[in-house]
Amino acid sequence: MNNFTFSYPTKVYFGKGAMEHIKPELAKYGRTVLLAYGGGSLRKTGVYDQILGILTAAGKTVVDFPGIMPNPTYAKVQEGAALVREKGVDFILAVGGGSVIDCCKIVSAQAKLEEDIWEMETAKKQFPAEFVPMGAVVTASGTGSEMNNGAVITHEERKIKGGMMGAYNSFAVLDPELTMTVPFRQVISGAFDTLSHAMETYFGQPHGHNNLSDDISEAVMRSVIANIRVLLRDHGNYEARSELMWASAMAENGILKIGKVTDFQCHQLEHQLGAYTDCNHGQGLAVIHPVLYRHICGAGAEKFARFARNVWGIADRATAEETAQAGVEALADFIREAGLPASFTEMGIDPSKDLKAIADSTNLTAGCCKKLSREELLEILQECV
Ligand code: NZQ
Ligand code: ZN
Repeated sequence: MNNFTFSYPTKVYFGKGAMEHIKPELAKYGRTVLLAYGGGSLRKTGVYDQILGILTAAGKTVVDFPGIMPNPTYAKVQEGAALVREKGVDFILAVGGGSVIDCCKIVSAQAKLEEDIWEMETAKKQFPAEFVPMGAVVTASGTGSEMNNGAVITHEERKIKGGMMGAYNSFAVLDPELTMTVPFRQVISGAFDTLSHAMETYFGQPHGHNNLSDDISEAVMRSVIANIRVLLRDHGNYEARSELMWASAMAENGILKIGKVTDFQCHQLEHQLGAYTDCNHGQGLAVIHPVLYRHICGAGAEKFARFARNVWGIADRATAEETAQAGVEALADFIREAGLPASFTEMGIDPSKDLKAIADSTNLTAGCCKKLSREELLEILQECV
C-alpha cells in the first residue's frame, strides 16, 4: 500500500433525533452563535424554529445569516465573514446542504484573516490555520461536505467555481428524517454526487494495490445504487435515506481515499460548467460522467472491467475493453433509470453557452488512466449538449 496518515476531527451524531446533541456540544463554545442557512426551506420545514429553540434554551445570542444560495458565491462568503467579525461570533452553526456548509467553512477561515482568502489560497497556495469553530446540521445529503474541510465556492467576477480549504466541523448532526422534505429531484441528484465521489476516487491511482480502499468504494457504490432504486419505488423510505446519508459522508470523509491519488476530472469540468451556468451539481455530473468515461475507459480497461463486474454485476465479455464499455453503459442506463438528465439540453442549459471557455478554464487533473487534453475536454462538453 501507499503510505498514509489518517485522523478525523469531526464527531458525527447520526440518526433520528440527533439534534439533541447540539445543546451539549454548544456548551463548549462562547455565547454568540451565527445561525447560517439557505434560501427558505428551513423556515418552511420548521427546522429553523427547532434550532432557534435549542440555541435559545442553551442561552445563546443568535446572529442570523440567511440566504446562502446553491453554488455559494465568494461575495456571500465575504458577507458572512464581515458579520462574524462585526458581531463577535464565537461559533458558526451551518444548517443545510453542501452549499451552506461550504460557505461557512470559508467564512470561518476568512473571519480570522486580514488578507483575502481567495488570493491567499489560489495565488500564494497558502492555506488557513485559524478558524472560528463550526458545526453542521445536514438537511440535504450527497456532498459529504460535513466531514471534510473542502469547500466549493463560485467567484462570480472571475467565472471560477473552485475548491478551497476551510474549517472542519467539530461536530455534524446527520438525521435522515431532515431529508424527507428535500425535493425528490435533489435527493437523487445528491445521491448521484455521492456515487460520483466514490467513482472519482476508485478510478484514481494506483490501480494495482490499495485494494481495501477500492473494495470499500465498491461497497459504497453498490449501496448508493441499491438505495436510489429503493427510493425510486418508495420516496420516503427511511432506511434507504439513512444508507444514502451515511454513504454520502463515507465517500468524502477520507476513508475511501486512503492511499489513493483521486481523479476528480469530471468534478473539475462540472464545476466550471457550474461557474458558467449555475447548474445543479449532481445533474451536471450525471450528464458528464458517461461521456467522459467513454473517452478514457479503453485506457483503463482492467479497472473499468473490475467496476463493471463488481459494481454492476456484469459477466466478463470477450475482452477487458468490452467488459469496461459495458460497465460505462450500465452507468449511463442507471442515470436514465434514476430520472437524471442525460444531456445539457435536458438540464435546460442554453446550447449556445461558450463551451470552449468552460474547457479552457477547467483544471486538468493527473487523470485516472489517461490525462485528458483541453481539446478532449471540449469534445466531451460538445458530446454532452
Ligand atoms: O436554500 P434552501 O431553501 O435551504 O433549499 C435547498 C437548496 O435549494 C434545498 N434543501 C436543503 N435541505 C432541504 C432543502 N429543501 C427542503 N428540505 C430540506 N431539508 O436543497 C437545495 C440544494 O441545496 P445545496 O446545499 O445547494 O445542495 P448540495 O448539498 O447538493 O450542495 C451542492 C454544493 O456543494 C458543492 C457543490 O459544488 C455545490 O456547490 N460540493 C461540495 C463538496 C464538498 N465540500 O465536499 C463536494 C461536492 O463534490 C460538491 O462539489
Ligand atoms: Zn460532488
